[in-house]
Amino acid sequence: MGADLAGRVAVVTGGGNGIGAAVAERLAARGAGVVVVDRDGAAAARVAARVGGTAIRADLATQEGTKVAVARALAVHGRIDLVHLNAGMLSGVHDLAALDVERYRRVVGLNVDAVVFGIQAALPSLVREGGAVLVTASVAGLTPFELDPLYAMTKHAVVGLVLSLAGPLREQGVRIAALCPDFVDTGFIGAHREMVAAGGRALLAVGEVADAAVAALVDGVGGPVTVLLPGRPAHEHTVAEVG
Ligand SMILES: NC(=O)c1ccc[n+]([C@@H]2O[C@H](COP(=O)([O-])OP(=O)(O)OC[C@H]3O[C@@H](n4cnc5c(N)ncnc54)[C@H](O)[C@@H]3O)[C@@H](O)[C@H]2O)c1
Repeated sequence: MGADLAGRVAVVTGGGNGIGAAVAERLAARGAGVVVVDRDGAAAARVAARVGGTAIRADLATQEGTKVAVARALAVHGRIDLVHLNAGMLSGVHDLAALDVERYRRVVGLNVDAVVFGIQAALPSLVREGGAVLVTASVAGLTPFELDPLYAMTKHAVVGLVLSLAGPLREQGVRIAALCPDFVDTGFIGAHREMVAAGGRALLAVGEVADAAVAALVDGVGGPVTVLLPGRPAHEHTVAEVG
């Protein structure tokens, strides 16, 4: 594969840890200039230093966060070819009675708004360069997730967005896809780790998720929605017939 992405610029949100950090490493190994965006500035800086990329500290759950981060990436590099909209959060709430508005806004702000605004902000450059977007959704974007219904809502939302944008963006020369992994062995799952272990379920390794992400983002492997389940190869999700 060598440096087949030399001269190309990739933005990875939530790139300071977990899946995003592993994707940043893989993109840099193929020669891309990588912009690591994360709320955790120290984590972003560590990964950026490791991959010879650029770190941008931004809270993407805020309305301006994503726009400002993409604008800074463009100011530094002059182009964006690949965007991995990967940062996400659980709401931690399964009883809506216990939900406060601020938390709700942050979950929707990060998991949905940051995806919409990220695509919007990068699109002129993506069209110019013939680029691609990958959104990290979740199997919780395709199935019920009773532990965190709001998280499931936001991930369903971005799957719908990707499915509905795939055709129109293709006409502009831009690919868009969503990755829907089951539980992944990162810090993200926190308290759910014990529940997963107790249920005898396997966790996906970060590396296999990152490999599937890069295959979808860079190489166009799979369709608009790729599902990743433990012990099975990544496969395209097909939308069941309705009506
Ligand atoms: N880990 C899982 O089991 C799992 C399963 C399916 C989908 N996902 C999705 O994968 C994506 C990445 O998760 P991960 O497992 O790599 O998690 P992670 O916790 O290892 O990494 C997430 C990164 O996002 C950053 N981040 C969080 N909130 C942010 C904000 N407001 N602004 C900017 N950056 C922010 C964190 O600082 C962290 O560096 C998320 O969208 C998550 O919903 C995770």
